[in-house]
Amino acid sequence: MPSPPQWAPDSWRSRPALQQPDYPDHAALERALAALSALPPLVTSWEIAMLREQLAEAAAGKRFILQGGDCAERFVDCRPERITNTLKVMVQMSLVLVVGAKQPVIRIGRFAGQYAKPRSADEEARHGVGLPSYRGDIVNRPEFTVEARTPDPELLLRGYERAALTLNFIRALVKGGFADLHHPEYFDVDWVAESPLAHEYHRMVETIGESLRFMENVLGVRAGETDRIDFFTAHEALHLGYESAQTRRVPGRPGWFNLSTHFPWAGLRTSDPAGAHIEYLRGIENPVGVKVGPDFTCECVARWLEALDPGRVPGRLTLIHRFGARRIADALPRLIEAVRAEGGQVLWVCDPMHGNTQVTASGVKTRNFADIYSEVEQAFDIHRVLAGKLGGVHIELTGEDVTECVGGSRGPSERDLARAYESEVDPRLNYEQSLELAFLIARKMKSETKP
Ligand code: PEP
Ligand code: CO
Repeated sequence: MPSPPQWAPDSWRSRPALQQPDYPDHAALERALAALSALPPLVTSWEIAMLREQLAEAAAGKRFILQGGDCAERFVDCRPERITNTLKVMVQMSLVLVVGAKQPVIRIGRFAGQYAKPRSADEEARHGVGLPSYRGDIVNRPEFTVEARTPDPELLLRGYERAALTLNFIRALVKGGFADLHHPEYFDVDWVAESPLAHEYHRMVETIGESLRFMENVLGVRAGETDRIDFFTAHEALHLGYESAQTRRVPGRPGWFNLSTHFPWAGLRTSDPAGAHIEYLRGIENPVGVKVGPDFTCECVARWLEALDPGRVPGRLTLIHRFGARRIADALPRLIEAVRAEGGQVLWVCDPMHGNTQVTASGVKTRNFADIYSEVEQAFDIHRVLAGKLGGVHIELTGEDVTECVGGSRGPSERDLARAYESEVDPRLNYEQSLELAFLIARKMKSETKP
């Protein structure tokens, strides 16, 4: 087999790069990218190596992944309450999942860099006027004016700074014992005290606390690690200028690292094996993900493996399948077979959000909770029947009380969607729907491990 051509952080420039903004001022873009590449990194190579090891364990069925966060982070949401609420819901869900999975859960936030969005059209037309589509806060702004929609390279720096602020706050909270199981009140969410799920959750946390105290009394030591919880970061590696500006070598470790995030992934629209995004991901040492939709081909699977994981090293490649509740039964078995035929050792994660988007009669983008859970449930069953294992879930969620997805035991109906619909892009599960989903998944996992 011919060896692949030389890779460099910008070798992607020789391939077709989809979904890149069209900046009117190229010199300004080059200046912003140069400034970005001179700033300190957000994450370190040893954290990346640690995540890769943990993902390898997840691929072997020994850990479960909870990947979650906004569809698109917004600059206005870089605020302490928002960040703590996202952290709270992720910690709570992960505790529920730990109890269900009876194994460690890896928490990966879609945050600190999830600012660039792929769009189905380059332009948006309103009342006969066409403007560039909104591509996320790191590119342009959602208001429908020429000024707001013109891609602005300075936003790359503003985004990187916000990613740094977000991550700094998350690291401080986590280090300060935010997720200490001795103090579940730190990560409690006060406005849902009325929810029946909150009662179930509190009962569970009490049981964990009691077991912890019992263990500590018996052993006479304070249980370690319960006051330190790891969070990793992930975002779609969409804006290749942004990604490659922070792609570096580090002392003492071979290879190149994307130091803007632990876990970059290629989105559905930019996963062509011959395209620029796969070329970029090919050369970095980070664990990488690829979103897979129902229209994949076996040839495509073979080429992803060849480009991204030629050594078939567990932990390197995660396939995040997002087929939709109606198509997963047909598509997932074919995908699993295609990966096996190539000797792939991938980690399997189910994204039950992006194949289940619908538009209501009044034109609002939403998702139905029942479809979301149905896709996850089918994913567990299909992997098990084919003697494999679902290694995690990828969820669009928020710690806020938004009304974007319909359903769940106390969730909004279509009529309620207007009450608190915030997302500029995809609809997210709200706090209560997220926790409910975690309980359902935990129950499913418990039933799977029963003899
Ligand atoms: C997303 O994760 O927000 C997204 C756009 O997903 P996909 O690439 O799977 O459509
Ligand atoms: Co989305």
